[in-house]
Amino acid sequence: MKRNLTDIISQMTLEEKASLCSGLNMWQTKPVERLGIPSIVMTDGPHGLRKQANPGDMSSKTVPATCFPSGAGLASSWDRELIREVGAAIGEECQQEDVQIILGPAVNIKRSPLCGRNFEYFSEDPFLSSEMGASHVKGVQSQGVGTSVKHFAANNQETLRNSINAVVDERTLNEIYLRSFEGPIIEGDAWTVMCAYNQVNGDYCSENDYLLNQVLKQRWGHGGLVMTDWGAINERVKGLKAGLELEMPYVGPEHDRMIVEAVQSGELEEAVLDEAVRRLLTVIFKGYDGKKEGFTYDAEVHHQLARRAAADCMVLLKNEGSLLPLKPEQSVAVIGAFAKHPRYQGGGSSHITPTRMDAPFDAIAGMSADCAFAPGYLLKGGEADDSLIEEAVKLAQSKDVAVIFAGLPDSFESEGVDRTRLDMPSSHIRLIEAVAAAQPNTVVVLSNGSPVTMPWLPQVQAVLEGYLGGQATGSAAADVLYGKVNPSGKLAETFPVRLEQTPAFLNFPGGKSEVTYGEGLFVGYRYYEAKKEEPLFPFGYGLSYTTFAYEDIRADRTSMKDTDTVNVSVTVRNTGTVAGKEIVQLYVKPLESHVVRPVKELKGFAKVHLQPGEAKTVHFVLDQRAFAYFNTDIHDWFAESGAYDIVAGPSSADTPLSVTLSLESTGIPFRKVGRNTKFYELMAIPETAAFAKEAMEGSLERLKQMGAMFAESMGDDGIAELFEAVVKWRKYDALRSLSGMMGGGTSEADLSKIIDDLNTKLKLNS
Ligand code: BGC
Repeated sequence: MKRNLTDIISQMTLEEKASLCSGLNMWQTKPVERLGIPSIVMTDGPHGLRKQANPGDMSSKTVPATCFPSGAGLASSWDRELIREVGAAIGEECQQEDVQIILGPAVNIKRSPLCGRNFEYFSEDPFLSSEMGASHVKGVQSQGVGTSVKHFAANNQETLRNSINAVVDERTLNEIYLRSFEGPIIEGDAWTVMCAYNQVNGDYCSENDYLLNQVLKQRWGHGGLVMTDWGAINERVKGLKAGLELEMPYVGPEHDRMIVEAVQSGELEEAVLDEAVRRLLTVIFKGYDGKKEGFTYDAEVHHQLARRAAADCMVLLKNEGSLLPLKPEQSVAVIGAFAKHPRYQGGGSSHITPTRMDAPFDAIAGMSADCAFAPGYLLKGGEADDSLIEEAVKLAQSKDVAVIFAGLPDSFESEGVDRTRLDMPSSHIRLIEAVAAAQPNTVVVLSNGSPVTMPWLPQVQAVLEGYLGGQATGSAAADVLYGKVNPSGKLAETFPVRLEQTPAFLNFPGGKSEVTYGEGLFVGYRYYEAKKEEPLFPFGYGLSYTTFAYEDIRADRTSMKDTDTVNVSVTVRNTGTVAGKEIVQLYVKPLESHVVRPVKELKGFAKVHLQPGEAKTVHFVLDQRAFAYFNTDIHDWFAESGAYDIVAGPSSADTPLSVTLSLESTGIPFRKVGRNTKFYELMAIPETAAFAKEAMEGSLERLKQMGAMFAESMGDDGIAELFEAVVKWRKYDALRSLSGMMGGGTSEADLSKIIDDLNTKLKLNS
């Protein structure tokens, strides 16, 4: 329904406007009945609906909802369409339960594998995370239900999450941490964004003008509203000015009153409040108009989707001697308490009540002619129990195969706390070691929300990473173990060998008041590649029951301007005997650069289904952004002129196909020419190249003359060598040097004139 919001706002009293800026209770917005402004319901999220039966009553139970795999698992599918389907199903559940906004997706970057909430997050890579987030948002919102992309921004740890100041340089913030939000917000057009609890570079996210006004609203053009994470407000009026519309939950009238007083005293322009109210009304009415009264979803259909999703998320990490898939006639020892009581979701605000549960043991019993169970460890506490291990070993010896369900118990990872180590509990480790020593055919199925160390890896034949697979994790695991589903997940994060090897090791979780993102851009595989560190399993890695050959890569051009696009196609063939899905990964590798850059970065991926022997060609379109870095002078993305390799393959550590492209920049990498503009920057721009070259060459002549004074001690050859070494760096000197020792009489006045002329040439003088 079309409404005239300006008209409605003009009829609202100051008090009514302010009151709309905080919730009604824990989960609802305030209505203004006299003007027909309804109240809408929002609730968690992200991988299923956590709705209290009566949103106004904190003590009411959560209604059953389908528990899909959590973000860490979903991202391992690298499947945009699957994530969209899951999102749409969640949207349907919201419709049935009369929820207008679901709080998710959570797209924070996995800076350290220790972050207690990594199970909810998608990836260490901003492009993958952004794509997954966009698909989730599109899926949910296709049902007329809104999303809240969270937690904006740099909420990458749970330690001191309410107060910590994340100190992140502008380039890293934009290239890694904010980049992850672009897809869900710009492409997905998320209705709302939830700001994080923490501070970023000295300002709480709830009142961070840079994040909310400058990036989210101005640069990205977000038209929806920003709400606080629950209780993340600091100074209410400062928040409103910085672009925060809604405070959640409602804790009392004081903050609304402060807004009223600020307008009355002139501290806050009423126009700022009006704009906030306009955004609030836009979302509230969208939610209200999108309601489908009486809608019901089919819980069985959603459960089947959860099963398909979970199976497609699992990552086969090892399969020696093709032990997997299991054969129905093999007798199986199913070991580990998780086989009967699976760990399928994480702790905290995303914890939901599933509509039903598939236990792995029951699912395996349905596929195996002969299987028996031994718990192997206690669900609670991490200490090993010798008698349980002994019992498990005996059972393993009596069967053809042992399948151990192990991983991280609830107490090892949760919202609100970070992990302190990467290891699994000793009860799980000792069980695996003992069973593997007694049974040569041992498979480990892992349930965990983030990487674990695997000291036992060489002793077992197969490892299936199941992540937190949701309510159908048990049947999905059996589907994969028995080959009903060919595993096709790949890691959306690097698995390190040990904690000390991880990028943020020296700076996580930081001090009591701030954490410095000292590793900069080098998060995840960007770090391991630059440091030439071999991880346990690299980003993008995952096996299949079939094999794939990367046959061909083509680009439709060998050179392009940054205003053009290039089409790249990659041909991949299934060279094995069963059908399977492959995730083709495309990375861009700058071959030369004037700024620090990761070795390569993910810029495209596609999941393709291939019959045995079948080949398919997948297509990618790359534009300027695929080659660009975030330039902190122009505060924008900038792609340098130069050569780039575009490489493709099955994982970040294996990119057999490569094609080279030469890129010509048409942009200017600075806002204005100044004393500190570098020769190389000017040489890269057609209008100023000749001047810069000439000025630089002139100064080299002077350098040569000065070098002559060392001729006696160094000899002509020595001088020539030194000269060559020094000259290499001259282009990185600033214009300023023209008025100094190298300038040959260029006065400060001349320098100012040169700068002025250059700005005029580049039309930067205004
Ligand atoms: C979490 C959010 C969640 C909110 C409401 C907060 O503690 O950080 O992710 O949406 O609670 O439950």
